[in-house]
Amino acid sequence: MGLFSKEIKTMEDLYLHALQDIYYAEQQILRSLDEMIEKATNRELTKAFKAHKAHTENQIDRLGQAFELLGEKPKGTSCPAIDGLLKEAKSVASDISDKALLDAALIAAAQAVEHYEITRYGTLITWSRQIGSGAVAKLLQITLKEEKAADKRLSELAQAKVNAKAAK
Ligand SMILES: [Fe+2]
Ligand SMILES: [Fe+2]
Repeated sequence: MGLFSKEIKTMEDLYLHALQDIYYAEQQILRSLDEMIEKATNRELTKAFKAHKAHTENQIDRLGQAFELLGEKPKGTSCPAIDGLLKEAKSVASDISDKALLDAALIAAAQAVEHYEITRYGTLITWSRQIGSGAVAKLLQITLKEEKAADKRLSELAQAKVNAKAAK
C-alpha cells in the first residue's frame, strides 16, 4: 500500500485512483500557472499561459463532472509525479535571472507538465471506455485536445521566437 492512498485491489480502484491523481495534479498546475504568468516576459507566452489557466479551470470542472457521472465524490490524491515536475520548474526558474532564458526554461518546464497530462488523460480515456463510462471518456477527450493544443502552442513559441532570443 502506498503512503497516501488506500490499497488498490481492482481495475476500478486503479481507475478511480488515476482520476483522483489528475484531479490533484490539475489543481497544483493551476497554482503554478499563476507563477509562470508572473515570471514570463514574452507577451505571447504570457498570453498562452493565461489561456491555459482558463482551460485548466474548465478541466477541473470537467473532472468534477466525471466523478459525478461515476457516482463518486470529487477528491484528489497526492501525485508525487506532478509535485516533482512543478518543484523542478520552480527551482530552475529561481536559478535564472536572464529574462529571455527564463522564458525558454518556463516553456520547457510547462511542456513537461503538458506531456504528463497527455499521458494521464490518454490512459484515463481508454480506461473510461473499458470500465468507466463513455460519457466520461467524451469529457476527457475535450481536455486531452486542449492539452495537446497547449503543448503545440508552446513548441511553436519556442521555435519561432523564444529559443533564438534566449541563445543570444
Ligand atoms: Fe490540464
Ligand atoms: Fe495542461
